Amino acid sequence: MTTQPIIELRGVGKSFGGRAVLKNINLRVRGGEVVTLIGPSGSGKTTVLRCMNFLEAHDRGEILIKGRPLGYSGPGGAAGDRDSAALIARVRRPLAMVFQQFNLWPHMTALENVAAPLVLGKRLPRAEARRRAAAALAQVGMAQHAGAWPGRLSGGQQQRVGIARALALEPELLLLDEPTSALDPERVEEVLEVIGRLAGQGITMVMVTHEMSFAARIATRVVFMADGAIVESGEPRRLFRHPATGRLKSFLAPWLRRPLRFDGPDG
Ligand SMILES: Nc1ncnc2c1ncn2[C@@H]1O[C@H](COP(=O)(O)OP(=O)(O)O)[C@@H](O)[C@H]1O
Ligand SMILES: [Mg+2]
Repeated sequence: MTTQPIIELRGVGKSFGGRAVLKNINLRVRGGEVVTLIGPSGSGKTTVLRCMNFLEAHDRGEILIKGRPLGYSGPGGAAGDRDSAALIARVRRPLAMVFQQFNLWPHMTALENVAAPLVLGKRLPRAEARRRAAAALAQVGMAQHAGAWPGRLSGGQQQRVGIARALALEPELLLLDEPTSALDPERVEEVLEVIGRLAGQGITMVMVTHEMSFAARIATRVVFMADGAIVESGEPRRLFRHPATGRLKSFLAPWLRRPLRFDGPDG
């Protein structure tokens, strides 16, 4: 493939209070890829996603979004001066994020939650924002709940509004941080179904998940992290069936006892 990656991480590192939580992360995501990020709790998955969006500032290496440096474009790179908020916002515009805890505004209806970033961030006229928000809610099967307050919706419905809010931004890359982990078990499937449909439509995404059989089914590539580093990555069938490292073998042990479903022949 020769197309430019939507995002590229080169030697990215991040420390909190002197402790390195990301070490030399190298990752490239191209249009149409569905990358799932797996690994034990505390391995740095959320921090990688947050750095991709500059919700967290990396302090080593560089992140390029469509070839443009994110966060630091001056000489010293990540050790130098941080770019202006306006420039950072422009560079990361192709990205949108779906959060583990939905992060909906409780005092706004579902429709207003989806429309607000279009008005505030994209500066769309209010009517146009509401039209786009309604279309995004329909895409996740939430059209009939447009006027509902988040507090009146189930967790699964709230997360579908969270996904609609990200989709309405028409991102080139969707970042999802364990989108189903805050849900009651009976609400997980409806959200996975929506995400699976988006992946099938060719929406590029990086998703952190503990849903292994879902990761195996929808991913074009799986990335396994442990202790702040990428330990292994590859095509799901290879990675889940033939883990190369002891770290991944022991992480997968609980799932390998159960059958995993893969798309395509020989699944
Ligand atoms: N804002 C923060 N301040 C200090 N430590 C943090 C912060 N965010 C994450 N960490 C630490 O960084 C490590 C990686 O966290 P995280 O990226 O949330 O892992 P994961 O998503 O894989 O569970 C953990 O040890 C966590 O405690
Ligand atoms: Mg996390």
